[in-house]
Amino acid sequence: MLYYAAPMEGITTYIYRRAHARFYGGIDKYFTPFIAGRKMTTREVRDILPKNNAGVTLVPQILTNKAADFLEIADRLASYGYDTVNLNLGCPSGTVTAKKRGAGFLSEPESLDAFLSQIYEKCPLRISVKTRLGISDLNEWEKLLAVYAKYPVQELIVHTRLLQEFYTGAPHPEAYADAVYRLHGIGSTQVRSAQIGLCYNGDILSAKSLNDVQSKVASCIAAYDDYQCDETGSPAAASSVIDRIMIGRGLLRNPALARQLKDKQPQSHNITDAGHDRSAHDAETLRAFHDVILNDYREIMSGDLPVLFKMKDLWTYMIDAFITSDPTRSPEGTDRHTVEKYLKRIRKADRIPEYTIAVDSLFRECFLR
Ligand SMILES: Cc1cc2nc3c(=O)[nH]c(=O)nc-3n(C[C@H](O)[C@H](O)[C@H](O)COP(=O)(O)O)c2cc1C
Repeated sequence: MLYYAAPMEGITTYIYRRAHARFYGGIDKYFTPFIAGRKMTTREVRDILPKNNAGVTLVPQILTNKAADFLEIADRLASYGYDTVNLNLGCPSGTVTAKKRGAGFLSEPESLDAFLSQIYEKCPLRISVKTRLGISDLNEWEKLLAVYAKYPVQELIVHTRLLQEFYTGAPHPEAYADAVYRLHGIGSTQVRSAQIGLCYNGDILSAKSLNDVQSKVASCIAAYDDYQCDETGSPAAASSVIDRIMIGRGLLRNPALARQLKDKQPQSHNITDAGHDRSAHDAETLRAFHDVILNDYREIMSGDLPVLFKMKDLWTYMIDAFITSDPTRSPEGTDRHTVEKYLKRIRKADRIPEYTIAVDSLFRECFLR
């Protein structure tokens, strides 16, 4: 299984990614938040500079519906040494989709097809795609899959939701099963394109949620009478129907998640050369990780407010690390209501010393999940 860290605009910057790789690891590929303009901003350039991303495998992401812009940005990325770029067809934000970009582009499969035809013909880099299932109806998915199957998509990362579902509601693993069936199966109704690697994305928060998704996808595939995963006619095993996953919010809540999932695999190594166990999700490691991110932002940003803005964004997700009902971790358990009080104090801080006091008390008084 390969583990990818999802791009999250404003949060998974190079500073976050670098600290994550140092303290936790377990990630096979990190993706940058999207680059949207043909003239890359200083911030975007800094985010992809190889010296800022040493030691991690990074795929820069592009968001556009204009082939010329895509090719220009890809050229620039090639000049920094990248050999693969990712196309964002998943962003649901109104300002993006109104211009038929991100997930908005999925509403026009013919234009999308023409766009893909141009970029796959002219771009010297490998191109992976991050997509949703459609706009408002799961029936859109089949047509989109038929479009993707026409191109050498290096990887198709499927956020198993429709645009209209934004980030909430149950994802649709059955649509992922449909992609496995149509792209990797052998049969008369399939558009087989074995070279397209598939990657599952959506609400992987724990080993249990991963197991549930694997079982669901496998049982959906088993329900197709004519599915064969290879020429021998073998059915797909639950553990092998998904061979790569991308994790977003789950990793922000528990930065050790990918490492922990990896450690369940027999061939994994979780001890660093220095003897540090990187699958540990303990307060000490989380605090050190947090402090490095804070200090690195302080080095590149002037004034407390922009730094605090970044840290508060991160806490929106990271606070969940402290919610536990396990009495062996916390005598009373720490419920959402309790941690919200700490989060409120963190959010109120407009100076770094005040912020640090709020974070200190969270770490002192609450236990990790
Ligand atoms: C705050 C935020 C920012 C995001 N930014 C991006 C982005 O820049 N590019 C992208 O492809 N997806 C972006 N996403 C979507 C995530 O990469 C991911 O697909 C989504 O959160 C579902 O995965 P998860 O359930 O593991 O979080 C963003 C999501 C959130 C919540």
